Amino acid sequence: MEDIRIRYYSKTGNTKEVALYIAERLKLEALEIKEDDYDSPCGLLFLGGAPYANIMSSKLREYANNLKKENVKAVALFTTSNWSRRTVRALKKIFKEKGILVIDEFLYVHMLAIKSSKDKAFNFADQIVEKYNKM
Ligand SMILES: Cc1cc2nc3c(=O)[nH]c(=O)nc-3n(C[C@H](O)[C@H](O)[C@H](O)COP(=O)(O)O)c2cc1C
Repeated sequence: MEDIRIRYYSKTGNTKEVALYIAERLKLEALEIKEDDYDSPCGLLFLGGAPYANIMSSKLREYANNLKKENVKAVALFTTSNWSRRTVRALKKIFKEKGILVIDEFLYVHMLAIKSSKDKAFNFADQIVEKYNKM
């Protein structure tokens, strides 16, 4: 599992909670996005974020923009925003332009349903890892 990374940007803690579920399931650490990742290769990146006042945080955008195609094989997205599709679409666009593969399935957990969505997050983690292992 060393080649799996879980990262999130979370202003108010919702996305972090979901990241921690994924991490629990995969017995990995979930960390806030950080520059160290840019030059450190990974196979599968779980990446979570949400919009604030209509737009993705500039930190998350910068992170996505700085990831290098040669360092990331595939990305799986998760979000807790109301506008989940918009958030996912915006991130997918960045990665598509960079040639980084984004797995079609993404995880959406409504911010008010996080506590009851642990199983959903566990299932998502399993499903994505299974898919990734077949790539
Ligand atoms: C200041 C602020 C602005 C927000 N603006 C939006 C928005 O424009 N669209 C949306 O879908 N959600 C919006 N939300 C909801 C957040 O995306 C949602 O609460 C999400 O779970 C926050 O994730 P976080 O707790 O990981 O920061 C906003 C939340 C805050 C605090």
